Amino acid sequence: MSGYAIRLQELTKDYAVGFWRPSPVRALDGVSLDVQPGEVLGYLGPNGAGKTTTLKLLMQLVYPTSGRAEILGRPAGDVETRRRLGYLPELPYFYDNLTAEELLVYFGGLFGFSSADARRRASTLLDRAGLGAERRRQLRKYSKGMLQRVGIAQALVNDPEVVFLDEPMSGLDPVGRRDTRELIRSLGEEGRTIFFSSHILSDAEALCSRVAIVAQGRLAATGRLADLAFETKGWELVVTGTDDGALEALGLDTATTQVDGRYVIDLPVDRPPDQLLPELSRRGLRVVSLTPRRESLEDFFMRLVAHREETAS
Ligand SMILES: Nc1ncnc2c1ncn2[C@@H]1O[C@H](COP(=O)(O)OP(=O)(O)OP(=O)(O)O)[C@@H](O)[C@H]1O
Ligand SMILES: [Mg+2]
Repeated sequence: MSGYAIRLQELTKDYAVGFWRPSPVRALDGVSLDVQPGEVLGYLGPNGAGKTTTLKLLMQLVYPTSGRAEILGRPAGDVETRRRLGYLPELPYFYDNLTAEELLVYFGGLFGFSSADARRRASTLLDRAGLGAERRRQLRKYSKGMLQRVGIAQALVNDPEVVFLDEPMSGLDPVGRRDTRELIRSLGEEGRTIFFSSHILSDAEALCSRVAIVAQGRLAATGRLADLAFETKGWELVVTGTDDGALEALGLDTATTQVDGRYVIDLPVDRPPDQLLPELSRRGLRVVSLTPRRESLEDFFMRLVAHREETAS
């Protein structure tokens, strides 16, 4: 037993691409990563980074070219361990003539729950996933976001110790994203290990004890999100109660969009808002929102690579 909930060692995956003369394309390149029991790990990276490939390797839906993956101290694919895992695939597919309730009862049965227990569990999980009223509707009448919630409920049917979620927030509206974030947080508080992927940085904020950032098949960084040096590129400031003249007097860019009396102002990085905000309120402007504009995962990764090449030469 390694003591880790999840352990990746030099995990590498080549896909054969091309029909007549298949040649290998490296989707994952020597990724090593340890996840402690009870950790909520955000596995972040831009599109095509290798996130889904990593999860498929962990679920043994595909096999590694080299390296290994372990879950709960056993090689990925171990049958006994499988019962202690939950998995939300990237594109969950269900028999869509079933209702959400029927589907979950069915999965409960597969995991050996009695029909009364399976029904009770289904009900609890559907509540938890925020699918109260719609549970007796056929899945083919569900929206993408509702199906995503069913997928999350499905991943929890067997009360798993380790939960793998591939883009759990995709297809969800802002409320759905927040609900899902809260759900993942509560799963973590119950002591479960969570490994979830996302290409959106903010999904991991205020949720993950740690993130791993993967790009172009390689692990770029791991650590607490707050400790990773994402560059602030400036701020987006939205204000009301003003006009072009007043903004100009403040030295603010007036080439801004104005909708319903709201001005959206791009503050450059050399104009930090802390000095500006008191000035604004003195002049009777109201701040609607202030959001930092941070570099994307892609930019972060490119900068990291450039820095490494610089120090190497
Ligand atoms: N079955 C496959 N055959 C060939 N290439 C594949 C296959 N699956 C994935 N790839 C390639 O491997 C790389 C990693 O893909 P993967 O789906 O793991 O990325 P991802 O990080 O999940 O991206 P996304 O954010 O878009 O879901 C990509 O370049 C992709 O084109
Ligand atoms: Mg993916």
